Amino acid sequence: MALQRRKLKLLAMVMMINFFIFILISRNSGQDKSGLNKPYVPAKAFWAKLSPNSAYWNRQQQILDVQDNPIFMTNFSSADVPDWLNDTSSNSDPCQPNVRVTTQVKDYNSLPDRFKDFLLYMRCRSYPVVMDNPGICKDPPFLLLAVKSLGPHFDRRQAIRQSWGRAGIIANKTVVTVFLLGNATAVDHHPDLSEMLSYENSRHKDLIQWDFRDSFFNLTVKEVLFLDWIQARCSRARFIFKGDDDVFVNTYRILEFLKGLSGPKAKDLFVGDVITNAGPHRDKKVKYFIPESMYTGAYPPYAGGGGYLYSGDIAARLQNASQHVALYPIDDVYTGMCLRKLGLGPEKHKGFRTFNIEEKYRSNPCAYKSLMLVHPRTPQEMIQIWTWLNREDLSCQ
Ligand SMILES: *[C@@H]1O[C@H](CO)[C@@H](O)[C@H](O)[C@H]1NC(C)=O
Ligand SMILES: *[C@@H]1O[C@H](CO)[C@@H](O)[C@H](O)[C@H]1NC(C)=O
Ligand SMILES: *[C@@H]1O[C@H](CO)[C@@H](O)[C@H](O)[C@H]1NC(C)=O
Ligand SMILES: *[C@@H]1O[C@H](CO)[C@@H](O)[C@H](O)[C@H]1NC(C)=O
Ligand SMILES: *[C@@H]1O[C@H](CO)[C@@H](O)[C@H](O)[C@H]1NC(C)=O
Ligand SMILES: *[C@@H]1O[C@H](CO)[C@@H](O)[C@H](O)[C@H]1NC(C)=O
Repeated sequence: MALQRRKLKLLAMVMMINFFIFILISRNSGQDKSGLNKPYVPAKAFWAKLSPNSAYWNRQQQILDVQDNPIFMTNFSSADVPDWLNDTSSNSDPCQPNVRVTTQVKDYNSLPDRFKDFLLYMRCRSYPVVMDNPGICKDPPFLLLAVKSLGPHFDRRQAIRQSWGRAGIIANKTVVTVFLLGNATAVDHHPDLSEMLSYENSRHKDLIQWDFRDSFFNLTVKEVLFLDWIQARCSRARFIFKGDDDVFVNTYRILEFLKGLSGPKAKDLFVGDVITNAGPHRDKKVKYFIPESMYTGAYPPYAGGGGYLYSGDIAARLQNASQHVALYPIDDVYTGMCLRKLGLGPEKHKGFRTFNIEEKYRSNPCAYKSLMLVHPRTPQEMIQIWTWLNREDLSCQ
């Protein structure tokens, strides 16, 4: 008897849900047919906007969403608006430390320092330029190679210049290489290498440096500053590769791939080693650990930060989108968030090996011929592999 009643209840519920769906559909289609130009506000997104979320990043994003679409607020009486959503601190100078986070993030005091530093400066997106090469894209490149580097990594940059990052005409295409630097500061016990960097830049004219602390969590700052830089200095680059200074890139293979793309494919290109169905690590010992007070939810698909390739067209759209996405401490996830904001996603290409290749192939020259990127490689390995790829007698089938 009880079982029957439960079945009946379930049946009634299913029917009710169906009925609701029917109403929703018929209302929407009615709206379409009526031709009234009522703005269509999707019910789900509407409620999602104001769903209570105590994680700091999620809240900051909701504040940005509401600023971008004030319509979401119009029908709320001020009593219904949670006070964090109407946070007036957004009016103050975003590059001054935001001390309100110390109370707004509930476990702020017990968080590791890197989170405190990130949170205090999370709203700051502009830092002074220390070094620039404004004319570097005077001749707009087919491919711009942008390498995230750190002041002291002189040998990595030099190995890249002598191997896969050699700028000039490669395979009949213009290639420009730049290195993206923050400031390796005394706070992190780095020696002062500023004079050596000035010399390096006078010699090679390929460093772009901003005055922010070059730390792991500030790589997102590097990303947004680079997106701005592209629009200011290199907006006519056809394609952009952005990656780390410990990867080997087969520039020949990348150029060959890019030359083979059709128009629409080239316009919306964003390829790399794509990670899907990931979310924040909750284990404190992991480098990518993110506390629940900071972020809840899954990550959008994103391309691993070791290196990815995208079009100049996407670069312009990402620069715009990034202004509407709150900074997130993991740069490649952040770029995935910006792509999602554009309604796009990265595409996986098996030539990007950010998790290396099988050990037995690592010293086989032919293994690199069809790859686009392998991580990690030392400066010496970069030069070795590049020499292999340039051997006249290298024959691989
Ligand atoms: C707000 O309320 C007015 C009047 O009730 C209604 O016409 C309008 O569609 C509502 N706007 C939103 C965004 O819900
Ligand atoms: C937000 O705060 C401002 C200033 O405190 C106030 O004037 C405004 O009415 C508030 N808006 C809402 C929707 O609560
Ligand atoms: C090199 O590029 C130029 C301009 O894009 C083109 O006209 C020429 O045909 C190319 N040469 C070869 C050998 O591909
Ligand atoms: C970079 O960091 C150094 C050492 O902490 C500091 O002296 C310098 O003022 C900072 N800024 C620049 C532009 O080098
Ligand atoms: C990012 O850089 C700014 C400016 O140098 C600094 O104040 C902040 O502490 C840095 N954040 C992290 C997480 O290192
Ligand atoms: C920039 O992004 C905003 C919000 O996402 C959008 O409304 C606007 O059209 C975009 N502008 C350009 C030039 O793409």
